[in-house]
This record gives sequence, C-alpha cells and structure tokens, in this order.
Amino acid sequence: MSRPLRIGLVGSGFMGRSHALAWRIAPAVFELPVRPEVVVLADRTEELATQAARQLGVARATGDWRDLIRDPEIDLVDITTPNALHKEMAMAAIEAGKAVYCEKPLAPTATDARDMAEAAENAGLPTFVGFNYLRNPMTRLARDLVSSGEIGEPWSFRGIHAEDYMSDPGVPWSWRLDPAGGAGAIADLGSHIVAMARFVVGPIEELVADLDTVIPERAITRGGAPVRPVEVDDQARALVRFANGAAGTIEASWVSTGRKMHLAFELTGSKGSIVLNMERMNELRLFVKGQAAGRAGFVEIPAGPEHADYAAFCPAPGHQLGFNEIKAIEVKDIALAMADGPTFRPDFREAYEVQRVVDAVLLSARERRWVSIDEVG
Ligand SMILES: NC(=O)c1ccc[n+]([C@@H]2O[C@H](COP(=O)([O-])OP(=O)(O)OC[C@H]3O[C@@H](n4cnc5c(N)ncnc54)[C@H](O)[C@@H]3O)[C@@H](O)[C@H]2O)c1
Repeated sequence: MSRPLRIGLVGSGFMGRSHALAWRIAPAVFELPVRPEVVVLADRTEELATQAARQLGVARATGDWRDLIRDPEIDLVDITTPNALHKEMAMAAIEAGKAVYCEKPLAPTATDARDMAEAAENAGLPTFVGFNYLRNPMTRLARDLVSSGEIGEPWSFRGIHAEDYMSDPGVPWSWRLDPAGGAGAIADLGSHIVAMARFVVGPIEELVADLDTVIPERAITRGGAPVRPVEVDDQARALVRFANGAAGTIEASWVSTGRKMHLAFELTGSKGSIVLNMERMNELRLFVKGQAAGRAGFVEIPAGPEHADYAAFCPAPGHQLGFNEIKAIEVKDIALAMADGPTFRPDFREAYEVQRVVDAVLLSARERRWVSIDEVG
C-alpha cells in the first residue's frame, strides 16, 4: 500500500476547483508511489470553504488558512488564491516545514519571488509552480524538437498570450487589477508565455518593452459607481534577446477582443519551424527544410499516445486532452517529486526567473530603454 500524500488546498475558485479535480484524476490514471488526497480546504469564510469542500469531496473545511498550515497532518500546501496573498501564505507554510505548490505568477515582484525561493531552499523544502501549459504533451514535443536539433539553431521566437476577459469596459474591478498583486496582463498572462519561452528556447537576457492601459477606469461592481482608476497594464509587448543568440517578441493582452486562450508561439530555426497555440493545444505544426519542391509545407501533428503522458488518458491519437488533464499531469509530476522521484520544474527558483522578466518589462516601459535581466530582482 503506497503512503499517503496529504494536501491542504487554499482557495476554491477557478484554480482551486481545477487543482481539486487534478488531485483526483492523477491517481486514477497514473501509477503513483504515493496516494494524494486533498484532506482540508480553506477559503475566505467557513461557509465558502464548507460549501466548496462538500462539492469537491474534501473531508474538512476551514475559514482560516492558518489552521490548514498549522495542521500536522498536511504534507503539501496548495495555494490557489489571488497573487497578493501567495507570499504570506507560502512563507507561513515554509516556516511550518511544508512543501508548497503555488499558482502563477508566484508573487507580485521578483524580489518577493526571490525571498520565497530562498526561504524554501534554506529550509530544504520542495516547491512547485502552476505553469501548467509546460505539461502539455505538445509543448514537451516542441522542446524535444529544439533540443534534438531537428529545427536547427533557434533564430526567432514570436510569443503571445492574448485573451479578452477584460476587453469589456463593463467588467468591474477585481483582484487582477489590484497593483498590490503585481502588474496586469504582463504578470497574469505574460508570465505563461515567458515560462514557455524559457522552457522551449532558454533564458532571456535583455529586452525593451512598452505597455498600455486602454481602459483607464472600472466600476467597483458591475454597472455601479463609483469607479476606480486602473493602475496596471491591459496590454504589453517586448523585443527580447535570448542567451543562446535567438531574438524575438513577447506579447500579453487581456483586452484582445475575440481571443480566448491564445497562448501561442512561432519558433523559427535554421532547419525548420514550430507553431503551437493552446487554443488548439492538441496540435503542433512543424516545418522541416528539405522537402520536395511543390510539396513543401508545415505538417500538423495531432497529439497521441506516442507523446509524453497522453497514453495515460487515451489509447487513440487525435482524441484531445483538455485543461484539467494538463493540470492532472502537473500534479502527477508533483506527486512523483514528493516521493523522491524526478525533481519538479518550474519550482520557486524558476518562477523567480520568470518574474524577473516580467519586472524587466515594467522597468523598460517606465524608463523607455533596453534592460538587462541582471538589473532586476
Ligand atoms: N495556471 C493557470 O492556468 C491559471 C489560470 C487562472 C488563474 N491562475 C492563478 O490562480 C490564482 C487564483 O486565480 P483564480 O482565477 O482561481 O481566482 P478566483 O478568484 O477564481 O479564486 C480565488 C480563490 O481564493 C479564495 N481566497 C481569497 N482570499 C482568500 C483568503 N484570505 N483565504 C483563503 N482563500 C481566499 C477565494 O475565495 C477564491 O476561492 C491566481 O494566482 C491566478 O493568477 C492560474
């Protein structure tokens, strides 16, 4: 009988529910050396926590996240709260000697993220960050195509994460607009494409960026008054240079009308190119030089059981994995790392490196100049 991995989940919103599902799916489809179980759920109030725990099948609930962290039964604290709360919760968990799984972006600033990484490293505790799109089998294929040299030397990366959930000026104020939680679209969405760029191509060394806030104020409640000024970016773009000599662009927008999950990149190399878009996350488009004249073009590769982790869910190609399955792959990798399996990346240290790029975008836009990542955090 495998030993239990007891999880305390903080938050039950969009991500809290996805994590709760993932922790149930992973042991059902993967052979795991531990038995993960969410044993307590914390939310803002006792009532919210109890309701969510009942629906998600969690035995215990609390309206005080500190109770969960103090609980000697808990091995891993899973944080899915708004960004401004990540640091306080993670630091308390580390102090209590718990491993921590935290949603992205890790913290409001790179300095905060560095403090968190150092605290965990000093305590010798494992950490895990929810950049789930790196777990997509097609993202792993992209990385393999680069590292195997199949597309040659990487020359150009054009990356974007665009959605439209803030494009309606009637969308009211929320924690995503609170500068206490960090930047706007560049942190919320941009952190995903930065993590992807680092995963597939490698570290970014310098950049020059520009930002805008296109909807300058929002109501505090829908249709209501008074309004509050928006102090974070709605859209951001940067020219970037990678350590390996590749160059490129990174864009983020939450006002990109019509776009729902356009986390995408086009990577051009000396021998071929890759196109990947999470709106169609089960397809990778690949072009390799040397094809017959009149027959040359991109091929569309559908995700299938030959690709990492797909076969655990489905024996047939082209049948499509979705967001929650990608999250289940993420928690499977966390469970393995907690049982002394392969080290998990991205951890807090890697999330700090992502946050440095986000902060460099803000600094560059503010000072209107090229910024080296070494200047930040
Ligand atoms: N990895 C991804 O693809 C992805 C997608 C969406 C959001 N996120 C990240 O997940 C985090 C949460 O985002 P969300 O969309 O789930 O937000 P949400 O607003 O839907 O949920 C937040 C939850 O935290 C709870 N909460 C707030 N204050 C709390 C407190 N003091 N104590 C306990 N619980 C508290 C809320 O009640 C709610 O249940 C953010 O960091 C966000 O950036 C990641």
